[in-house]
Amino acid sequence: MKKEISGASTPSYEEIRTVEMSETEQVHLITPSDLNSYGRLFGGRLMQWIDEVAGIAAIRHAGCPITTAAVDNLQFKEGAGEGDLIVLRAWLTYVGNTSMEVRVDTYVEDMSGKRRVINRAYLVEVAVDEDGQPLRVPRLKPHSPEQYAEWDNGLRRQQLRKERRQEGY
Ligand SMILES: CC(C)(COP(=O)(O)OP(=O)(O)OC[C@H]1O[C@@H](n2cnc3c(N)ncnc32)[C@H](O)[C@@H]1OP(=O)(O)O)[C@@H](O)C(=O)NCCC(=O)NCCS
Repeated sequence: MKKEISGASTPSYEEIRTVEMSETEQVHLITPSDLNSYGRLFGGRLMQWIDEVAGIAAIRHAGCPITTAAVDNLQFKEGAGEGDLIVLRAWLTYVGNTSMEVRVDTYVEDMSGKRRVINRAYLVEVAVDEDGQPLRVPRLKPHSPEQYAEWDNGLRRQQLRKERRQEGY
């Protein structure tokens, strides 16, 4: 039996929260310290930003500390260089008992505000107590056709992840 979140200011796991309540956006300006030896954005730096923004969205949903359990489907579609504005957008797609799937899309934004996707990732964040034990999280209520489709796909991905773990991947 999973513990429940306690405390007056944290949401109950029976509470229903929407995707918009925890959606998070972060913007970074690429500086020389973000570049690899070829002068392009270092992949490890982008992965750090992805992990951070996904964690913030999950904390906003769960109302308690979280830990990253898995990162998958991390696709680098395009590179970026010094002076580019990098926008990361994170939102919850699926919620299990204690885990939350967060999608992070990363864009390069040009001076006119137009964005092109350079990376897409899905992360699994797990709500934990002070001993690192999983805690139940509030329910997630999709309310648009896109959010329902994401939920169905998230459920399928969670089942695939479970199968992979059982097979020892
Ligand atoms: C994530 C963690 C808390 C899960 O603990 P656990 O004892 O395995 O707990 P459970 O087996 O009950 O799993 C809890 C939830 O996490 C999910 N989960 C656990 N491992 C997972 C993985 N590798 N991939 C995806 N989901 C995972 C389970 O499906 C379950 O989800 P649900 O409650 O929504 O059904 C534990 O594995 C851990 O602390 N891992 C290290 C995390 C860490 O240090 N991250 C930072 C890396 S630098």
